[in-house]
Amino acid sequence: MLKTRVCELLGIEHPVILGGMASATNPELAAAVSNAGALGNLGVGSGRNLPTPAAALADRIRALTHRPFGLNMLLFLADDESIAATVAANAPVFSTAWPLPDQDLKAVFARAHASGARLVHMVAAVDEAYRAAEAGADVIVAQGTEGGGHVGVIGTLPLVRMVVRAVAPLPVIAAGGIADGAGLAAALMLGADGVLLGTRFEATLESPLPAGYRQAICDSNGHDTFLTELPDVVGGTTWPGAYARVRRNRVMQEWRGREGDVRVHRAELGRRFTEARERGDAENGVLMIGQDAGLIDRVEPAADVVRRIVREAEELLVGRAAEVVGTPSAV
Ligand SMILES: Cc1cc2nc3c(=O)[nH]c(=O)nc-3n(C[C@H](O)[C@H](O)[C@H](O)COP(=O)(O)O)c2cc1C
Repeated sequence: MLKTRVCELLGIEHPVILGGMASATNPELAAAVSNAGALGNLGVGSGRNLPTPAAALADRIRALTHRPFGLNMLLFLADDESIAATVAANAPVFSTAWPLPDQDLKAVFARAHASGARLVHMVAAVDEAYRAAEAGADVIVAQGTEGGGHVGVIGTLPLVRMVVRAVAPLPVIAAGGIADGAGLAAALMLGADGVLLGTRFEATLESPLPAGYRQAICDSNGHDTFLTELPDVVGGTTWPGAYARVRRNRVMQEWRGREGDVRVHRAELGRRFTEARERGDAENGVLMIGQDAGLIDRVEPAADVVRRIVREAEELLVGRAAEVVGTPSAV
């Protein structure tokens, strides 16, 4: 059975983590992933002005699973108060991403550790991995540009390997462009101790995305995404070092490269995005997906996704290795 160091560290059976997607997770999805033996993770974004407070979200997950789960924060949007409130929700794992360059990571991580949580921090560049390791992270997620949502510009293959070398012996989780067991097996070969998946879990039965968005992921051939700041110009947020990887749909084609006009029409576009999501209209909303959408063909229960990825990886790690290496010749 496939086991790595993070399984023991995070109290999980399988080295698979749900990306803490602020706009695409809910307690049901997080609990389904945890119940399947992986790590469910729920994104609270800034943690400010939440319709449901972090503590209530964590209680809802606890009502659905007895297994470990995480809460995720976007640090550049968070403040002292919202970090304290999210940590106080007492999730077994506190996961973080996208800090500002001058943010005191050590203080944030120490606060999470004081609550008894494990700290999992995501990076999109090697210098950020050094920074997180020095600040005391327990696990580093190396997220490549292939991924959905906000990503950096370097690919998963070189980034994971570079981060593994940079922060050894800290465990590293690979993210970005991974949707199946071959991706998990490849990540383990790079020296990672598991994978974190976003887009694959967006296309599950428990996902909060409307049916039209989930179907669009299944319909995508993986070539129809691009990096843009358009949604952030509309939303009025400046991500430190990130672009959004989104589906190249009608509204994106219409406004892409016209950020000046977008600033003028922010309110109107914001409404168009919101209404499209409510209707499940994948042509007029912001559909953040990774290139691995080309590997996803159907909407399934999250538990089936976890089980299949692990089974495929186990089979590949044994069968494929024997196939390519053969029987070592006796000397
Ligand atoms: C819709 C969406 C929202 C996301 N929001 C967050 C977030 O709030 N915090 C975070 O750490 N990562 C976030 N991510 C990134 C994921 O955690 C993960 O790194 C990424 O999806 C991995 O690439 P993949 O989509 O190819 O699996 C988001 C991704 C998507 C698709």
